[in-house]
Amino acid sequence: MPVPVIGGSTCRPFTGHCKSFEIKGVVMGSAPATGSQNIQSTLQEDRLFPPSEAFAAQANIDSEDKYLAMWERAKDDPVGFWGELACDNLTWSKDFDRVMEGDMPETKWFLGGKLNASAQCLDRHLTTWRKNKAAIIWEGEPGDVRVLTYLDLHREVCKFANVLKRLGVTKGDRVTLYMPMIPELAIAMLACARIGATHSIIFGGFSADAVAERNNDAQAKLIVTADGGWRRGKEVMLKRAVDESLAKSPTVEKVVVVRRTGDLHTKMEPDRDYWWHDLMEDVTADCEPTAVDSEHPLFILYTSGSTGKPKGVLHSTAGYMLGAMMTTKWVFDLKDEDTYWCTADIGWVTGHSYVVYGPLANGATTLMYEGAPNWPDEGRFWDLIEKYRVNVFYTAPTAIRAFIKWGDEWPAKYDLSSLRLLGSVGEPINPEAWMWYHNVIGKERCPIVDTWWQTETGGIMISPLPGVTATKPGSCTKPLPGVVPDIVNEQGESLGPNEGGLLVMKQPWPSMLRTLYGDHERFIETYFSKIPGCYFAGDGARRDEDGYYWVMGRVDDVLNVAGHRLSTMEVESALVSHKAVAEAAVVGFPHEVKGEGICCFVTLKQNTGTQALKDELKAHVRKQIGPIATPDEIRFAVAVPKTRSGKIMRRLLRDIAAGRETLGDTTTLEDYSVLANLRKEDEG
Ligand code: WT7
Repeated sequence: MPVPVIGGSTCRPFTGHCKSFEIKGVVMGSAPATGSQNIQSTLQEDRLFPPSEAFAAQANIDSEDKYLAMWERAKDDPVGFWGELACDNLTWSKDFDRVMEGDMPETKWFLGGKLNASAQCLDRHLTTWRKNKAAIIWEGEPGDVRVLTYLDLHREVCKFANVLKRLGVTKGDRVTLYMPMIPELAIAMLACARIGATHSIIFGGFSADAVAERNNDAQAKLIVTADGGWRRGKEVMLKRAVDESLAKSPTVEKVVVVRRTGDLHTKMEPDRDYWWHDLMEDVTADCEPTAVDSEHPLFILYTSGSTGKPKGVLHSTAGYMLGAMMTTKWVFDLKDEDTYWCTADIGWVTGHSYVVYGPLANGATTLMYEGAPNWPDEGRFWDLIEKYRVNVFYTAPTAIRAFIKWGDEWPAKYDLSSLRLLGSVGEPINPEAWMWYHNVIGKERCPIVDTWWQTETGGIMISPLPGVTATKPGSCTKPLPGVVPDIVNEQGESLGPNEGGLLVMKQPWPSMLRTLYGDHERFIETYFSKIPGCYFAGDGARRDEDGYYWVMGRVDDVLNVAGHRLSTMEVESALVSHKAVAEAAVVGFPHEVKGEGICCFVTLKQNTGTQALKDELKAHVRKQIGPIATPDEIRFAVAVPKTRSGKIMRRLLRDIAAGRETLGDTTTLEDYSVLANLRKEDEG
């Protein structure tokens, strides 16, 4: 194979003007001074938890030496490293002739090759003993159960791929999936992939307006939905939201509706809306996978950035699949006998990579659960673990904190002895929650993998290898093979041990996003212009004396509410679209369970702030964006603090929202009385 051009592997110093930023109270280049409790406690953390000898002996990567050798090789010879993995693990319809080409951010992978993601997840298992192995074990919230073997899943995917074709979907078209956590969601994803259509999944907790905005941005041709889904015993009315969204999304021609809840009020528009079960009756189960180029767009997934407009993160086929597959194997140490459960909704990237693509590409059994963890009671997750003898369990710190609050009596009622490995994702895990997870769920027996990654990275980047890494509670530990991170200051200079700075990636990796759909300029501006030559993740972090990474949180205006990413500007624009609101400033504040709560400072056109208006504004935001964005607090203010150039001083608002003294510099504050007024409102 010819040697490709690889560039951008070092961080060039940035000489231009940098926007100032802060890591939520952390002073750049020094240890955090005024950070939250979590950051304080992670700084003092020095407990070390090495894997047991028994675990290490059976692990897919079983020694420090092996890890180091892989990591060094991937860093020095990415072409050899990734080229071999792609040859050995992906099934190619046509072999690739170049492993990688081009500098970051334009790096392309496995050029010349052709493959199909659904064939990678399904067809190749059918010629092995796995054909009758459970691919998906699904349980609905009401307790209904379905098990699909690889052969079953293959049949359903082929049939639905034929349905899509019949409805006029062709290679390259975008298809929106707005569905509950039911097997049809996985089937629809893989069916899109099978015919080379690009799926764009929208989490079921988003509003009709959010669906319309995403349909329009992606120019989606068709939408697959359900009458509803079950959540805490109530029906989430998905089809109704779709109907509302379609008035504002002209590109969508057809709607396919799965009957899930049996909602009798579902209205079906002739020649536009079709029931899934009707369509599936008239198609065959023969559908050859369409071989697409390695770089063919597999999916778009919208995520929040620092402006009000969501970003359509676009992922490729070969690079993404290889990343999802290898990280699943390394980090979750998957074995053929395992029952693996990632609790994420498929509407988020975690569900894409670690409920569907990663596990299925590995031929694993993946458990899928439709509903809430506290329905019919707070023991539901533990009940599922006992019932299906789950071996590997992957969830989020916000869920763990809720479990702690609900009490140890819930997990104590169930047999959790099948568990051998635990995972965490979505936000920094506070050491208290880590220790509870380790003691109460893992019974001090199961390694914990705290996995740092993002929608943009496609797969896990920094994480313990469970058979190798001695873990420290609160640290996502070390980079996986092929990942070359650094902590830099605003000039792009590498920082020393325990100095807080920006987390960047210095080398490209196969599963990185390829662009923001329809806005390549924003892609370059967002990720590659702050620290030239590097991918800028948007997180603040430090690296300790042992080379362990400690991620502290976002440095931009992105909130992380219960593991969901939201932009402060999205919430602000929802608020100002209400007739009573003149101006709004939104900040996060530390929240016991959700990690971050949403606090909105609102100035009104007329000073008529009442509790009723607060409730109305909360409902308004919920309606505009979705329940995940419901403000925790609305505070009416006479004015919001601004710099002389008119920029909202979020740091001050964050201090006020958190009930902290304002310690930072206020010299650029335009009007000191604003601050005094806000505090008065605070006390009142
Ligand atoms: C942001 C990405 C990728 C899965 C779910 C979230 C935060 C994620 C961790 C972790 C500390 C984490 C970061 C990141 N984050 N995992 N293990 N430790 N922070 O995906 O919605 O794209 O959000 O979540 O701030 O930038 P996402």
